[in-house]
Amino acid sequence: MLDDVGGRQAELSLRRRSTKRPGKHQSGDNRTHQTSLDLWLQAEAVSRPMLFKPYFVRDYRRMVRTLIERHGYADAMSRSVGGDYEGMGRAQSQVLCDEGLRDTDMIIDVGCGSGRTAFALSRIPSLRYFGIDVVPELIEHAKAKAARPDWRFEVVEGLAIPAPDHSADMVVFFSVVTHLTWNESQRYLDDALRVLKPNGKLLFSYLEKSNPRHMKAVGSLFERTYHLFRGHGVKNVTLSEDQIRRWADQRQIEFTLRGPEALGQTYCVVKR
Ligand SMILES: C[S@@+](CC[C@H](N)C(=O)[O-])C[C@H]1O[C@@H](n2cnc3c(N)ncnc32)[C@H](O)[C@@H]1O
Repeated sequence: MLDDVGGRQAELSLRRRSTKRPGKHQSGDNRTHQTSLDLWLQAEAVSRPMLFKPYFVRDYRRMVRTLIERHGYADAMSRSVGGDYEGMGRAQSQVLCDEGLRDTDMIIDVGCGSGRTAFALSRIPSLRYFGIDVVPELIEHAKAKAARPDWRFEVVEGLAIPAPDHSADMVVFFSVVTHLTWNESQRYLDDALRVLKPNGKLLFSYLEKSNPRHMKAVGSLFERTYHLFRGHGVKNVTLSEDQIRRWADQRQIEFTLRGPEALGQTYCVVKR
């Protein structure tokens, strides 16, 4: 299953639910007595402080909070990152080990979400790990699931990794550049190159333009526009091998593409 399909299904189900009138199960709250003006004023008040944050911070935080409200905390923590929490986490961890992650390495997990990868990696006792994400609730959950007081988790709001130059053996972006524009992703990937040690590895997964299954996961222009208009969900972006080649050529680095289906996405590996 495509990694993002779970998330998209969650989002589609949100859209379906959002068109329903409040049912009996909602009688405990006051939604049935609210006018459109009340709802608009509430939404405006909630979104105002977020107004000047980048769209990827706003959209992801809003999506996670909506998922918690609709599905409960535990379920939302898995849905927010695409579902199949343990299975996909194991697959991601296996990919990292296959790519040469060593037991004592320092790995940076950009967009670590609710800790799907961290949870799977937490069985490696001497591994060092730093996870960053834009959603505080996801970071808290990741921290709790990994249960590794020696590991670091941090909320970020930009496109930079708060780590020193040449400090990581591996930097990984699982299903993160799929939610940013290519310009933004390039800034983030450049920063990943900065924090990598010589001979370190950068790995990022992405949705490939030439893959019909990946294109389906992104949805039609109509679906995406509707989706954004309704304020649910997040940006979905595809990439082509040519785009990645141009980025790599400009930086004089070599890359290898793997997949396309190992993780439901194609992934790119760059050796520093
Ligand atoms: C599809 S989820 C994948 C989560 C995790 N990598 C995994 O595979 O389980 C994408 C994650 O990227 C995070 N994200 C989006 N923009 C980000 C940014 N600029 N910096 C860090 N994380 C970001 C989201 O909050 C979300 O947790």
